[in-house]
Amino acid sequence: MVKGNAPHILSFINLKGGVGKTTTAVAVAEILALEARQRVLLIDLDPQTNATVNLISEVEWGERDHAGHTIAQLFEDKINNQLPPKFDIECAIIRGVSTVDGGIEGLDLLPSSIRLITLQDHIPGVAMKGHFTNNPLDILKKALHPVIDRYDYIIIDCPPSLGAVTHNGLRISTGYVIPTIPDIVSTWGIYQIVDHVRGFAADLGQKIEPLGIVATKVQNNKLHERVMDDLAHGRLGKFNPSGVPQPHFFKNWIPQSVDVARGADHEAHLRTLNNKYGPNAYAALQGLTREILTLCEANTQ
Ligand SMILES: Nc1ncnc2c1ncn2[C@@H]1O[C@H](COP(=O)(O)OP(=O)(O)O)[C@@H](O)[C@H]1O
Ligand SMILES: [Mg+2]
Repeated sequence: MVKGNAPHILSFINLKGGVGKTTTAVAVAEILALEARQRVLLIDLDPQTNATVNLISEVEWGERDHAGHTIAQLFEDKINNQLPPKFDIECAIIRGVSTVDGGIEGLDLLPSSIRLITLQDHIPGVAMKGHFTNNPLDILKKALHPVIDRYDYIIIDCPPSLGAVTHNGLRISTGYVIPTIPDIVSTWGIYQIVDHVRGFAADLGQKIEPLGIVATKVQNNKLHERVMDDLAHGRLGKFNPSGVPQPHFFKNWIPQSVDVARGADHEAHLRTLNNKYGPNAYAALQGLTREILTLCEANTQ
């Protein structure tokens, strides 16, 4: 990408937990940086902090959290605005992260904190705290402003909800990806997400495109096979009260694999992404990343 162009900003979102949002977001960010040589920022917006401790050690996370160098501090500064602000984006961004090979050049992380669990409910109240400029939806957007043009891609790992934190991520997103296990329960809320994001984007007068649905943790059974076939043919589910179109279904799907689950362990000291994800899931994640790159490049034409 030519320097100065706006980055592609993609939220990974599903209302369901445990469907592979974090795993897919982290892997796509790693592959974009390591193999596609893109400048990537991964933002961990989930109070569960899984993407963060996938990429840095818990000890490093603890020190950074204590020093106020996580996304929780950004929101806390706005909530407790009678105290001097502590968050500094330059200090909070960790450069060259990854468990693999001592870090991946070009992959930066804006870490999360479990402190966000108690803070998140207070974010909408920020609007009442004095200044007209305190729009609770724009907290992340304003904080990123000084660094945004350093990146080609910003990948956002969202919590499994459509609350104030996710809205901060969507506010800056150009598109979103929906990871889902191909079963009934995990795909149930997909039309609600699409409908919600469509309304949110329309209210803000911005474009947030659904890039696609990616099947994750796929197992060799009849249910997964049937749901994948339905997704591939645009026949997802019946509960679609607003009649929104089914998003594109990515050709590459991520198999259920013990290697992937093990790869989330920061202490495993893995040398390559192939080791981290295992050959089958890694090939699928590479294919998915290529599909995402192609769609994003087509969107900028
Ligand atoms: N393809 C996969 N194969 C096996 N385990 C997986 C796979 N993808 C994710 N997992 C595991 O499933 C759990 C939930 O995945 P995660 O990415 O954290 O989901 P989410 O972010 O949607 O909550 C984690 O323990 C993760 O390691
Ligand atoms: Mg997660």
